[in-house]
Amino acid sequence: MSIASLTDALQWAERRNCAVGAFNVWNWESAMAIIEGAEEEGVPVIAMVYAGVLERMGLEESVSFLRAAAQKAAVPVVIHLDHSSDEHKAIQCAAAGFSSVMYDGSQLPFDENLDKTKELVEKASILDCDVEGELGQVGSAATDDYFDPAAMTVPGDAAEFAARSGVTALAVAIGNAHGLYREEPHLDFPRLEEIRNRSGVPLVLHGGTGIPDRDIRRAIALGVRKINVGTEIVLAMQRAFAEQMRGSPDGWNFLEASTAARKEVKTVVRNRISLFAMK
Ligand code: 13P
Repeated sequence: MSIASLTDALQWAERRNCAVGAFNVWNWESAMAIIEGAEEEGVPVIAMVYAGVLERMGLEESVSFLRAAAQKAAVPVVIHLDHSSDEHKAIQCAAAGFSSVMYDGSQLPFDENLDKTKELVEKASILDCDVEGELGQVGSAATDDYFDPAAMTVPGDAAEFAARSGVTALAVAIGNAHGLYREEPHLDFPRLEEIRNRSGVPLVLHGGTGIPDRDIRRAIALGVRKINVGTEIVLAMQRAFAEQMRGSPDGWNFLEASTAARKEVKTVVRNRISLFAMK
């Protein structure tokens, strides 16, 4: 198949009333496992690189590797930049060949977030690149109070933000957070429904690790079209490496461990995809 746009992947999800899985790439094994998992499930997928990971892997190195892998894939693959709060970096990524970039201006006042996101949408569209914005603050499950309504997306603001910025998708804060939840999250579904009704834009649910399946299904029914999963991917690799390397004092099990990690991530990806695709 080929490298896909975020717009096309979200339209696919909209037609089927489901969500596209967006998985964080941490290294080569995880990237390959994400694509293979999607191929085995036969659905589009979003391989996303967090801005901090991109810095370590290098922009050109990451893009050429991901584009080569996506071009060979049997399903559409969106190459996405996750959580960039630097609009210049985001444009560099768009120019380098990312299909979409997320601009995270959620820490900024509303007007500033809107202005910067809108400017990025205009510049990125010239490069054929879509933009995801964020409104409300999706913080860390380890440290932030994800039940705090003050951090959540305000539906009226979301409608204005979506209409004026022109984003392809909007990440919302409805009681979700990144990382391992200290207590089971309770998503604010009435808020989600109002955001969807008033904004009409495809919505993104960050912090997918640890959200119960029933809540994932309900969020999809209320208009979530992209679901981000990161921590689960890295935990899968940790499990596999810990197990394989334990019996390898000289470290030579590293290749077996890498293969096991790839397999473990693929299993996670397939399970999540089959839930998100409402199969
Ligand atoms: P988790 O790490 O909690 O799954 O969240 C990932 C994410 O939202 C990336 O943007």
